Amino acid sequence: MAKRIDPCTLVLFGANGNLSRIKLMPGLFRLDAAGRLPEHMAILSVGRNAVTRENWLADIKGMLDKKFKDGYDEEVFKRFIARNHYFENSSSDPDAYKKMSTVLSDEKTFPQNFAYFLSVRPTDFAPVVEQLSGVGLLDESKYWRRVLIEKPFGTDLPSAQDLQSRLTKHLKESQIYRIDHYLGKSAVQGIMLTRFANAMFEPLWNKDHIDHVQITNNETLGVGDRTTFYNATGALRDMFQSHLLQVLALTAMEKPADLQPESIRAEKIKVLQSIRPIDVNNINKQAFRAQYAAGRVCVGDGHGENVRGYLDELNTDGIESSQVETYAAVKLFVDNPRWQGVPFYVRTAKRMHEGNTAISIRFKKAPMQLTEGQHQNWLTINIQPRECIKLEIESKIPGLDIATRTMSIDAPQRKSSDETIDSYETLMLNLMEGDPSQYLHISEVEAQWKLVDPIVKAWAEDSSPVHQYVAGSRDPKESGVIFESEDQFWRYSIELGGDKH
Ligand code: BG6
Repeated sequence: MAKRIDPCTLVLFGANGNLSRIKLMPGLFRLDAAGRLPEHMAILSVGRNAVTRENWLADIKGMLDKKFKDGYDEEVFKRFIARNHYFENSSSDPDAYKKMSTVLSDEKTFPQNFAYFLSVRPTDFAPVVEQLSGVGLLDESKYWRRVLIEKPFGTDLPSAQDLQSRLTKHLKESQIYRIDHYLGKSAVQGIMLTRFANAMFEPLWNKDHIDHVQITNNETLGVGDRTTFYNATGALRDMFQSHLLQVLALTAMEKPADLQPESIRAEKIKVLQSIRPIDVNNINKQAFRAQYAAGRVCVGDGHGENVRGYLDELNTDGIESSQVETYAAVKLFVDNPRWQGVPFYVRTAKRMHEGNTAISIRFKKAPMQLTEGQHQNWLTINIQPRECIKLEIESKIPGLDIATRTMSIDAPQRKSSDETIDSYETLMLNLMEGDPSQYLHISEVEAQWKLVDPIVKAWAEDSSPVHQYVAGSRDPKESGVIFESEDQFWRYSIELGGDKH
C-alpha cells in the first residue's frame, strides 16, 4: 500500500552528473507517472554551471527522450516539468548557500520539507552538510530535513567515523540516509520475505541443515573508464564492503519483530557484528585476490569481444603497476547459535564468463545415501539478471533400476507483466516517505569496515605478484584454497550442470 508523502522539495546536488541524468531524473519521472509523487512536490537541481531554467528543462527533456525511447505521456511530462527548477551553486560564490536558502524560502514554489540528495564527490559530503547547516537549511523546527549520502560512506573505519562525526554535528541519525543501491533491488528486498513469508525455509535455515552458503556477484564488465577510482578502491571496498555484506546480513539475520525500519536494521546490525573478524595471520586461507588479464568476454548480444587486462588498462592511464584486486573471494563465519561453523563464501569479480548475482545454499548430506552419486540439495536465490528461486532435489530416474538424478524446481519471481523498477526509484520514494529501512545505519557501516579494513591492509602490504585470470573465464582454481572441504566448489548461474570445476 502506498504510504503518504508530505509535500516536499527534493534538492538534487550533482544534478549534472551521470547518476542524476541516467537514473535519478528518469526515476523521478517514472514515480510521477505512477502517481507516487505528492501533488505538492518540487525538484531543485543544484549544479555548478550557470544554466537558465528554460535550458535546464530542455536538458531534462533530452534525458527523458534518451531513456524512454518509446515515448511518454505528455500530461505527465507537463506535470513533471512544472516541478523542476535549477540553482547554480557556484564554487566561487561565497554566498551561494545563502542564495539557495533565499530561493528555497519561496513557499509557493518549494514545499518546505526538504530532502537533500547528495550525488557529489565523497569529499564533498561533509562540506555540503556544513554549509546547509550554516544557512539554517537543516533546521527542523517546523519541517523535516533529510540528507541522502551516496556511497561510499568513508574509505575505511576511521574515515567513516570521521565523516559521521562531522555530519552528526548538524544532523540526527534519523535524518541521515546512507544509500546502498542493492537494498533498493526488488530481489534483494525479497530475500527476507522469501525466508520469513514461507513456512518451509525457516526450520532448515541453520547450521544443522546447511553445509555452506555462497554469495556471488560476477560481472562481465571491466572497470571501464573508472580506472583511477577503481585502483584506489578495489573489489573489496567497491562491492564486498557494502553490497555483498548487506546481502549476507539479509540471508543470515534472525526474524525481525516486525517490518519497522528499526526492527529490520537491529537484526542486520546483530548479524554484521557477529561475523568473526578475519585472522590476518591466516589470511591466505580465508581470502583470495586476483586481477583479470586480457581475454574474451561475452557481450550483451551473446557475441565475444576481445578485452584488455586490468594492468594494460591502468598503463594507458599512466599507472604502471598495481596490486589492486578485481577478484575477491572471502570466507566468513557468523559466530552465533544459528550459524556456528557454517562457512559463508562471498566473492565478487569483474570480467568473468557471466554476469550473475546469487545466493546459493548447499544443504548437508541427506541422512541416507541410497545411491551412488547422490548430490546434496542446493537452494539458489538468484538476484540478477534473472530473479528466481531454484531448488535442486534428488529424484528417482524412472526405470527398472534404483538410481537418482538431480532435478530442479525453478520458481521465477517475476511475471512478464510485472513492472521493472530501478532501485533508485524505490530508494528515492523511501527517502520522501521517511522510511530508512532500506538505508544503512551507521552501526552497519562501521561493522562492515571493521571486517574489510584488515584484509585491505594485509593485501596492501603484500607485494607478492597478484594472481591473474583470463578475462571471460571462471574463478581461478587457486581461489578454492578458501574452501573448508575438498568437495566444495563454486556455483555459477542458475542453469543446471556445468557448474563444477
Ligand atoms: C557499484 C560498483 O556500486 O555497483 C560497480 O561501484 C558495480 O563497480 C556496481 O559494477 C554493480 O551494481 P549492479 O546494480 O549493476 O549489480
